[in-house]
This record gives sequence, C-alpha cells and structure tokens, in this order.
Amino acid sequence: MSVDKHFTVQFTGEKATLLATLYGRAHDSMADDPILGDTAAADLMSRIDYDFDRFRMRRGETLSVAMRARQLDQWAREFLTSRPDATVLYLGCGLDSRAFRLGPPPGVRWFDLDYPDVIDVRRALYPSPEGYRMIGSSVTDPRWLEEIPADRPALVIAEGLLMYLSESDIRNLFSEIVDRFPSGRLIFDAISPLGTRLQRFTRPVQAVGATFTWALDDPHRIEQWDPRIRLVTALPAADLPGVEKLPWDVRLAVRAMRLIPPLRWAGVLLRYDFTR
Ligand SMILES: C[S@@+](CC[C@H](N)C(=O)[O-])C[C@H]1O[C@@H](n2cnc3c(N)ncnc32)[C@H](O)[C@@H]1O
Repeated sequence: MSVDKHFTVQFTGEKATLLATLYGRAHDSMADDPILGDTAAADLMSRIDYDFDRFRMRRGETLSVAMRARQLDQWAREFLTSRPDATVLYLGCGLDSRAFRLGPPPGVRWFDLDYPDVIDVRRALYPSPEGYRMIGSSVTDPRWLEEIPADRPALVIAEGLLMYLSESDIRNLFSEIVDRFPSGRLIFDAISPLGTRLQRFTRPVQAVGATFTWALDDPHRIEQWDPRIRLVTALPAADLPGVEKLPWDVRLAVRAMRLIPPLRWAGVLLRYDFTR
C-alpha cells in the first residue's frame, strides 16, 4: 500500500466516526496479541492529522471495534470462498482496509462506497488495483447502484453504517439491492432500541456529535420488509469471540450483559441471504 502524505481531516458527525473505528483497529494492531492485527490502520492513522484523543476510547472499546471487524471479515471470507466470482459492495467503508486485508480471490469485483469527501481522502491514501473501485456517494442516493454490474452474486457489507440511516432509507436500499442482483448475502451490524438509548454512553459517537437514528428490535423484521431476504445468523455483540482479551472489568461487564437478554442483544451482527 503506498501511503506517503499527511492529511488534515475535518469530518464531523457520522463521517467522523470512521476515525474512531480506524483508531480502534490501529490500537488493536499495536497490541502484542492483536485481535484483528490491521497494521494498515496504524499506518493510516499516523498520516492523518486529527485529535484522536477526543474519542477518549478505552481499551475495551478499541478491542470491541477489532472484534466486530474480525467477525465480519470471517463472514466475508466464507462467502467469497464459496463465491469467488462475487461482487462486493462495502457500504460506508470509511478508511477501512478490508478490501486489502482480506485479499479476496482475483475474480472478485470490490466496490468501496462512502460520502464523496470521505472517498476523496480515501483515494489519496489507497491504491486502486484492478477489480477494485471507490464510489463517492451517499448510500441513500440510488444512482450509485446503476454503476455496479448486476450479473453476479453480491456480498453487501455495512459495518457501523446503518444506525446512522433512517428505516425507510434502509428498506429502500435493501429492496434496490435485492431487485438488482441474482442472489447474495447482506452482512452488517445493528443496535436495538435499548442500544440507541444507551448512545449517550458511547463516547466516540458523542465526541463528534453523531446520532444513532435506526434501531432493530428483531432480526426477523428485515424478512418482513422483503420475503426474498432470509435471516442466516444473528450474533449478539456480547457473544463475539475475543472477550478473553478485554480488560478484566470489561470482561465482567460483558459476562453480566450476557445474562440480561435486552443488554445481550443491544448490539448484534447479522447475516442474511437473498435471492431475487
Ligand atoms: C462508524 S463509521 C464506519 C466506517 C467503516 N465501516 C469502519 O468500520 O471503519 C460510519 C461510516 O458510515 C459512513 N456513512 C454514514 N452515512 C452514510 C451515507 N448516507 N452514505 C455513505 N456513507 C455513510 C460515514 O461516512 C462513515 O465512514
């Protein structure tokens, strides 16, 4: 990866949260025994002039970012192993190196999408090899989808994105995706209504003035939106592998959360299949 410039970024609101997740992955990669080990994140962070301390992220929070990313990486890898000809749409990619971290099979077409000003920064920091493209657009503007060839199964990844959208935007997005591709898989994280209420305790989100606007009360609700979509896995964030690496006080809190269903399901990672 050729990265040799320094950037001052002035994102606010939900755009600035990409710097918190970047920080989380970078921080994890500096550990002796990392969860994700995304060294590209540390490299990028060192080239971005930004006051990362404002997020006041504790070790438990940075490792949680890495745990979520690792699980979504694993799900993505599984899909791409069975469909090495897939088209990947990573929506709200921020500055994540997933397209390079995963080393997808050569037949995969990979599209990273985020707001135009985020993609401007991304273009300056990342190479654009064959089979890989960046798209600067709001995910809610349906025109970007017209640029994507629709002849292959799609893997749609949305990490840390959908909670910033409205339910009607998400419904429209999913139905446009399902209309367009022959089949595919959606993988994303979501928070429950209780999780939304707890956002005032989520320091990185508070620090940049972002707001969670969408909550999912039941993973089966997405199937009710569109019967072509079928739930494959709902994994509570509290059950993610890697908890043993969290500081002892966070480990205790996570164990307590697992015993109280509304807290256990406050954050969830989801996998759905769809067929047109
Ligand atoms: C928490 S960050 C996650 C970034 C990346 N997925 C990661 O894990 O590092 C949320 C991302 O969603 C993007 N985002 C939020 N609303 C969006 C929209 N309407 N269209 C495109 N991107 C959006 C933000 O710009 C930001 O990059």
